[in-house]
Amino acid sequence: MSQLYELSEVEQQNGKNGKPCWLIIKGNVYDVTKFLAEHPGGGDVLLEYGGKDATKAFKQAGHSSDAEKELKNYKIGEINSAAPIQVQPTSITAAKVTENTISGDPEPAKKSSSGFCCC
Ligand code: HEM
Repeated sequence: MSQLYELSEVEQQNGKNGKPCWLIIKGNVYDVTKFLAEHPGGGDVLLEYGGKDATKAFKQAGHSSDAEKELKNYKIGEINSAAPIQVQPTSITAAKVTENTISGDPEPAKKSSSGFCCC
């Protein structure tokens, strides 16, 4: 199973101040630190996306299928997209409950005053 990384972890590896340069492409995490000097498109573009999602930029650069294949050489894991979603506990306030509750007897239905009586 692939190593899972939190987005916040990847964001820290932005290639600045001697840190490694990681980027995200299609949910995968790549360490391109050693590739910076070799990338035919230059190291700067990779650094620009250091710690970020470069999926769009990678696609827009019109990479060849060879470049796609090369990706796997730098893959170190995947983004943990299955992180538990923080669900806020919904507290139904007492006020709301009473608001919607029928309190006491509703006003007694008025007797018809139209004069119609069946008895
Ligand atoms: C691990 C990620 C990446 C790999 C393995 C990779 C690989 C390559 C390869 C092999 C080429 C040569 C042309 C080709 O075969 O398509 C290339 C060119 C290029 N790459 Fe990347 N690339 C990566 C990420 C990026 C990113 C994030 C950008 C951001 C814009 C980028 C921009 C470019 C550009 C502009 C060129 C064209 C250079 C030229 O033709 O003058 N690449 N890349």
